[in-house]
Amino acid sequence: TGKFTYDPGFLSTASCQSSITYIDGDKGELLYRGYPIEQLAVNCDFLETCHLLLNGDLPNAAEKKDFVSRVTKHTMVNEQMQFFMRGFRRDAHPMAVLTGLVGGMSAFYHDTTDVTNPQHREIAAIRLIAKMPTLVAMAYKYSVGQPYIYPKNDLSYSANFMRMMFGTPCEEYQPDDVLVRAMDRIFILHADHEQNASTSTVRLCGSSGTNPYAAIAAGVACLWGPAHGGANEACLNMLADIQQMGGVAKIGEFITKVKDKNSSVKLMGFGHRVYKNYDPRAKLMRETCHEVLGALGLENDPMFKLAMALEKIALEDEYFVARKLYPNVDFYSGIVQRAIGIPVSLFTAVFALARTVGWIAQLNEMISDPEYKIGRPRQLFTGSATRQVKPLAER
Ligand code: CMC
Repeated sequence: TGKFTYDPGFLSTASCQSSITYIDGDKGELLYRGYPIEQLAVNCDFLETCHLLLNGDLPNAAEKKDFVSRVTKHTMVNEQMQFFMRGFRRDAHPMAVLTGLVGGMSAFYHDTTDVTNPQHREIAAIRLIAKMPTLVAMAYKYSVGQPYIYPKNDLSYSANFMRMMFGTPCEEYQPDDVLVRAMDRIFILHADHEQNASTSTVRLCGSSGTNPYAAIAAGVACLWGPAHGGANEACLNMLADIQQMGGVAKIGEFITKVKDKNSSVKLMGFGHRVYKNYDPRAKLMRETCHEVLGALGLENDPMFKLAMALEKIALEDEYFVARKLYPNVDFYSGIVQRAIGIPVSLFTAVFALARTVGWIAQLNEMISDPEYKIGRPRQLFTGSATRQVKPLAER
């Protein structure tokens, strides 16, 4: 056919123009709206970062107050959501539950389903950011058979999430400051990452004019895969497998398997399509890892030691060096989440919670673009030429 460029995996095709997030993969640089991730991680909290991504700049004190108050107004979910939740098995994967709950929001919040209406989009954005922690915590509480804990709006976004996760009606939960900061940093580092698979999914889905909740549910579904957001869960499972094989002494054997051309085993938490030097998020997450494990007295945690040893061996190995494979954010985020007490199966849901703001900012940007069109990739057809249907008896 020759009319279209064939670019599987979008290796060299820009799917949109965007002014939200900038990545320089060679330098290992990540900017949200021009601000380096290293500065945001240290000087801002997650809701300030949300304001930045959604509105283009960091809020001043009055804007922050207003934004926080608008978000906290929406932290509760419709009581009926509990009954929707009950339809799931208790052992359902939290990402299956979250895909359903987020998609289901369009059935609860009818007043904000027109994606072409800026007011609808604005309220849907606030609702999604506000309710994601409540939904993720509900999915967790449901899985362990504990009562749901309602949000408490005088807490910070991250402290509120941790209280809904780990509090019970019998005992007031006091989140540790170091852990709350770590949670907030996880959220900031995962908030946006330009045109990755789930964000592109949200854009493509939203381009049909579907409602914002449905578009974000599509993002959640895409994020679930182990090559994307599911890597944090897969990485911890991989570390557990190596631990079971015999721990640090067995790293060499595992790496040999990864390098085997005939094996599909990958070093989870390593490699990135864009970062070919290092992932700046991984550097920050590594710092947080040390801080959290230090605060909890877990520096000798065998899983952490194993991860450190694995990283060192991989970084010196010719296979990984030649392919420019470095640890990505998910190599460390799982270890931090596990130390906080979040179960492995919930890791990707926490990523989804954090990425929601990025998805919405990207959706808004697309719909507001005067040149925006429904996404409709073309193909290079490789099937049969025209042929004639024979009656059943002659086939
Ligand atoms: N372990 C072993 N080999 C790898 C890995 C890995 N983690 N990643 C890439 N390679 C090899 C790959 O087999 C290929 O080798 P060869 O040239 O001999 O065929 C070469 O490196 C280039 O890899 P690629 O698959 O062409 O690279 P990609 O840009 O298509 O994939 C990736 C990027 C992130 C999907 C991939 O590196 C991967 O699967 N990593 C493990 C999963 C992971 O940690 N994902 C999280 C990404 S960061 C968070 C997020 O975005 O959600």
